[in-house]
Amino acid sequence: MGVSSRPHPRRPSNLLPSLVALSLFSLSVLLLYKVDDYASRTKTVAGHNLDPTPWHLFPPKTFDEETRYARASKIIQCSYLTCPYAATESIQRRDQSRSRSARACPEFFAWIRRDLQPWVRTGISSAHLMEAKRFAAFRVVIFEGKLYVDFYYACVQSRAMFTIWGLLQLLRRYPGMVPDVDLMFDCMDKPSINRTQHASMPLPLFRYCTTPEHFDIPFPDWSFWGWPETNLKPWEEEFRDIKKGSQALSWSKKFPRAYWKGNPDVDSPVRTELLKCNHSRRWKAQVMRQDWAEEARAGYEQSKLSNQCNHRYKIYAEGYAWSVSLKYIISCGSLALIISPKYEDFFSRGLFPLRNYWPISSTNLCPSIKYAVNWGNANPSEAEAIGKRGQDFMEDLSMDRVYDYMYHLIMEYSKLLRFKPIPSPSAREVCAESLLCFANPKQRQFLERSTAFASEGAPCTFEAAHGIAVTNWVKQKEKAIQDVRKKEMLSTEAQSD
Ligand SMILES: *[C@@H]1O[C@H](CO)[C@@H](O)[C@H](O)[C@H]1NC(C)=O
Ligand SMILES: *[C@@H]1O[C@H](CO)[C@@H](O)[C@H](O)[C@H]1NC(C)=O
Repeated sequence: MGVSSRPHPRRPSNLLPSLVALSLFSLSVLLLYKVDDYASRTKTVAGHNLDPTPWHLFPPKTFDEETRYARASKIIQCSYLTCPYAATESIQRRDQSRSRSARACPEFFAWIRRDLQPWVRTGISSAHLMEAKRFAAFRVVIFEGKLYVDFYYACVQSRAMFTIWGLLQLLRRYPGMVPDVDLMFDCMDKPSINRTQHASMPLPLFRYCTTPEHFDIPFPDWSFWGWPETNLKPWEEEFRDIKKGSQALSWSKKFPRAYWKGNPDVDSPVRTELLKCNHSRRWKAQVMRQDWAEEARAGYEQSKLSNQCNHRYKIYAEGYAWSVSLKYIISCGSLALIISPKYEDFFSRGLFPLRNYWPISSTNLCPSIKYAVNWGNANPSEAEAIGKRGQDFMEDLSMDRVYDYMYHLIMEYSKLLRFKPIPSPSAREVCAESLLCFANPKQRQFLERSTAFASEGAPCTFEAAHGIAVTNWVKQKEKAIQDVRKKEMLSTEAQSD
């Protein structure tokens, strides 16, 4: 009533500016909304918008950015606006003829062929990859020298960030040489592709460790580039410090006991068992608990690995699966007492009992440790020599060799692909700059310290390792371990007589 009789409130000429203002306003609201929506759907190398892997849960990630707006702009900035403007390095193909002068790869590279054996006949199809996806945390496509990632699940701590960083450094180290490739990666601890269950269709899945009962393909773990959450520096820096620390005491001055320090609360039966051997006189072992939260508060002074080489014997015990601690323990140059491992990482398969370490029985743990310590104290120069060869093995495993392993593994794997790797529409390019964009200050510090530079020479030559029969190696290894077991038994019997 009366509405129609009212005069028109505004003339069209007044309406226009308001309309423009209104539409600009709605446009920016829409844009903000769109941007926010875009950001909330963008999965990142830091773990934004990702759930933890369902097969290995961990607390959901928290992020430094305080507001939703800050997070959205960071995601947009790092994910979409960084790589296109990053300085592109000129990619030059290396002169392959130089490879003739390159040194041969270490023997354990022969495992690359064994790991890829399941696909030699069939090749790797996209159907293989789509099946493997069910077990993967992310998918990596290298295409024309650039790296693209599809993130499916978050990885614990900064594993994804450091692993992808490692791949980016490989591209820097061997520019133009890394082939196009498409691979599925799981970043959690335990292998998942059981050889029995997947016998009819082996699935190729990269992770940090495997077992002889699994198809999982081992790949160097993140800690080679550093592990900021435990203050472990990039591998070469850490090795240098440990080696220096190991020289603080001469062999005869080192404490003639076996030493272990770590976290026993990781659902590892062998670590629980190890706690029972904590008796210096009875079992000749010292077992110490590492409390990471406590160490972090104390600035990691107590956990410095370079200060942990003062014992003649250092025990290695697997954690929930393989443990990154193996390389640091062997680096000490003490006699490494390795409790028979279930899991293998890419390099540990090259270690040989009584050459680089002493094998300890997991079923007769404390007496086995005691036997090793007694043997070593009775044969100090032999014990020292094994320890030294262990340290030399780790010294040989320089980052150059780690990149070479990655290179050859990826190269051999790519030859098996039966399709052309192309980044999927959902994949995002990740470059060093975009990854650093997501890193917090501590992560950034570690990442920058592990930057690789283009290699002067070619990768180590792989063909030389071709002839090594992995099966023979495994058999010899088993026999050497059995010999130690027998001697242990004889000594226990002698004692009880
Ligand atoms: C693999 O699967 C088989 C058959 O289901 C099972 O018996 C075996 O224990 C599994 N192996 C491992 C290492 O989980
Ligand atoms: C092992 O024994 C030592 C000395 O008795 C003790 O200080 C240490 O706390 C023990 N370790 C563990 C894990 O209980």
